[in-house]
Amino acid sequence: MSGEGPLRVAVLASGNGSNLQALIDGPHERGTIELVGVASDKPGATALERAGRAGVATSVFPRDDYADRTARDLAIAAWLEGLGVELVVLAGYMQLLSGEFIRSFSNRIVNVHPALLPSFAGLDAVGQAVAHGVRVTGVTVHFVDEGVDTGPILLQEAVELTYTRPMEAVMDEIHAVEHRLLPHAVELIAAGRVSIDPENPRLVRIEGA
Ligand code: GAR
Repeated sequence: MSGEGPLRVAVLASGNGSNLQALIDGPHERGTIELVGVASDKPGATALERAGRAGVATSVFPRDDYADRTARDLAIAAWLEGLGVELVVLAGYMQLLSGEFIRSFSNRIVNVHPALLPSFAGLDAVGQAVAHGVRVTGVTVHFVDEGVDTGPILLQEAVELTYTRPMEAVMDEIHAVEHRLLPHAVELIAAGRVSIDPENPRLVRIEGA
């Protein structure tokens, strides 16, 4: 996927940015990727501070500064293209992206989602899973298509639930899994080991897996 040097990666994040931190402390520090930019829709997002501390360029694209989502996403896309971004990672980015944005980075956007998709898509996936009473939930890393959490699945890992476990403990375990799974997925892509099956675009092939 990448030309010369490590894969150029950008992260979009709306909040705390613990998944961004896992990418900084893992692949970015190891040099398997180069994190070149972090963008947020929220000026106060802790993710921006984490990026700043790591010396990564940041930019903020608040929804209200643009006529509509398409205009805002065009501005984000232009910023990412200026940085020569090859892969966009959604790490707790709580905004829907326009179809134009998704098509302009076709098969070059991945998202981490705190459930085993296609179960519990959308917001508050952990709360949805706990409320439903499922015994097993987990984490999914998937390519982003124009639906909500519907794109081809790259990696998944299960987490068991019990009724007696407090929500906070479940959240902590989900996060711990995310912090392993997302960097792993990004490194697989950076190593050129990931491709979409041309016969069936729902299937993601991982070379050597
Ligand atoms: C993560 O749990 C991520 O899976 C979730 O937001 C959290 C962000 O945490 N994303 C979604 O729910 C997207 N639908 P972080 O800001 O600490 O990385």
